[in-house]
Amino acid sequence: MLSYVRPYSLRLAVGVVLVAFTALADGIVALMLRPGFDYVLNPSVSGSTLPLVTFPNGYTIYLNRFFPPSIHHVWTIFALTVLFLYVAKGIAEYLGVTQIQYVGQAAVTRLRNQVYAKIIRQPIGFFQSNPTGRLLSTTINDVERTRIALSEYLADLFQKGFTLIVFLAVIVVLNWKMALGSAILVPLVVVPVGKLGKKIRRSSENSQNRLGDLSQILQETVSGNRVVKAFGMEDFEIAKFRNTAQRLLRENMRWVRAAVATGPMMDLLGALVIPLLILYARDQIKHGLMTPGIFIAFLFAMFNAYMPLKRIGQVYQQFQLAQGASTQVFGYLDREEEHSEQPGAKSLEPFSQEIVFENVGFAYDADSTQVLEQIYFRARRGEVIALVGSSGAGKTTLVNLLPRFYEPTSGAIRIDDLNIREVTIKSLREQIAMVTQENILFHDTVWNNICYGLTNVSRGKVTGAAQAALAHDFIMELPQGYDTLIGERGTRLSGGQRQRIAIARAILKDSPILILDEATSELDAESEMFVQKALANLMVGRTTFVIAHRLSTIRRADKILVLEDGQIRESGTHTELIARGGTYARLHDLQFADDDMLAPAQAAPAKLNVTSNSL
Ligand SMILES: Nc1ncnc2c1ncn2[C@@H]1O[C@H](COP(=O)(O)OP(=O)(O)OP(=O)(O)O)[C@@H](O)[C@H]1O
Ligand SMILES: [Mg+2]
Repeated sequence: MLSYVRPYSLRLAVGVVLVAFTALADGIVALMLRPGFDYVLNPSVSGSTLPLVTFPNGYTIYLNRFFPPSIHHVWTIFALTVLFLYVAKGIAEYLGVTQIQYVGQAAVTRLRNQVYAKIIRQPIGFFQSNPTGRLLSTTINDVERTRIALSEYLADLFQKGFTLIVFLAVIVVLNWKMALGSAILVPLVVVPVGKLGKKIRRSSENSQNRLGDLSQILQETVSGNRVVKAFGMEDFEIAKFRNTAQRLLRENMRWVRAAVATGPMMDLLGALVIPLLILYARDQIKHGLMTPGIFIAFLFAMFNAYMPLKRIGQVYQQFQLAQGASTQVFGYLDREEEHSEQPGAKSLEPFSQEIVFENVGFAYDADSTQVLEQIYFRARRGEVIALVGSSGAGKTTLVNLLPRFYEPTSGAIRIDDLNIREVTIKSLREQIAMVTQENILFHDTVWNNICYGLTNVSRGKVTGAAQAALAHDFIMELPQGYDTLIGERGTRLSGGQRQRIAIARAILKDSPILILDEATSELDAESEMFVQKALANLMVGRTTFVIAHRLSTIRRADKILVLEDGQIRESGTHTELIARGGTYARLHDLQFADDDMLAPAQAAPAKLNVTSNSL
């Protein structure tokens, strides 16, 4: 944590010095009680000497020495000193505390930025095992706890720390015997405060986890609101939220109790010391060994030393709270980023020859079943490779290996003879455009969604891409055309519209490798026909991996791979596979019979509302 503060050490140092000065000013004010009582208020004393403090070695500081001889009235000297001290202290406090708070705020801003960068660079698998709500909660709430501790309590820690030191010095100077006697307070305070602190830290971690649960429920049910409504699950979700909130409340109260107990517990110990001090002082004053002024100054300083001590105890608990809360934050920071690039990873040259899957095997988890086994095939530049197979056969998984969303567990994928493990992820992904099963759009304008990842694209190119994707017409009908905001995840658009924007985005990216994972699944038959044409244009000169339900796309493929249970069962062109009479031919007869029968009826698109979803 301290490493986050280091870049601001100069600012911190300035703040600390200023804050130290405010403590010093407080100390001097305490010392002034003695001349105040014993000289200014004592009618039997005349003259202008005002001793502020006498050190044990007999050296005395006189206040009047700081003033020109013209100012000699004890009250004037006293009043001017107090005024000066408070004005100076006020300025120093303002400047010092803002500096230190700035350091805390800035350090946490850095921390949050790093956590975000770390999370965004995690491999895809990370997002599948860490729910969105939890991640949100960590980057917002857990970091916020750390911020409170760092910005608000860091200044406090320094300020109170110095005040404590100053007043300890004051009480030692005033009467070291009484000071020593009161020192028994210290271990009596430190030990239990430490114990409570541990409890707070543990409980704080739990309570941030509960808060994460809460934010997870919120995230899921807000974005999945339609499903909640459709199934009439509002009451169920409300009850779930309430229960989780109740658990959070219970966990919060656990640390609240420990944190609040710190103050009164310290007070109790303080209460033990004061009567003893009075007893001792009574005796001393009776024997003329101490003036009441000294004792009052001592007691005042004692209280003033005690207050920051108490506060430091509370600040300590706040730090424990922050430490517990930030466990997850630092847990994320310690994670490896996406398959850290191999040392000396090359930049991938523009793809020119062929992509080879060499006996690729893959499992999502080391101990789970293989999703892909012994996948071997070649895709030459410009070829269209169609992947066919029942749901769950592993088609999406296979194409996800190409941009290295996941790493094969065995075998290798080569592009132009270069294992893709040995190239930089950036250069690899630059050459791949994807249109996937779920098209994620951002809450931004249509324009920015199409241009995602590209800068300075000419107007013509964007509209050209949109036209090719058959999106231009409907975009122009939107209230602000290309500048229309399309809602979170594109929810203000229909499924087919979202898909066409995603296709436009892929067309614009203009990369040599194209992955279409059911890219046209949400289009009606008529639009699909057009989009198929657009895609056909797009595919020219590009190597395309296409997963599609519809025969038309697959028929045109240079190679069809039939995937079953993660293995390639058959491969070849449409005609070859039909002739062979194997799985493909069977699936073809079963699934595409309707399409084929309807094909001559293209003139009546109303009847073409077929979405065969099973192949
Ligand atoms: N993130 C994941 N973690 C673990 N298992 C997964 C994950 N994603 C998919 N699987 C499993 O891997 C298998 C293949 O899934 P995949 O998504 O590749 O199928 P698919 O052929 O694309 O199916 P569909 O036609 O329905 O899209 C399935 O059994 C699925 O349960
Ligand atoms: Mg799939």
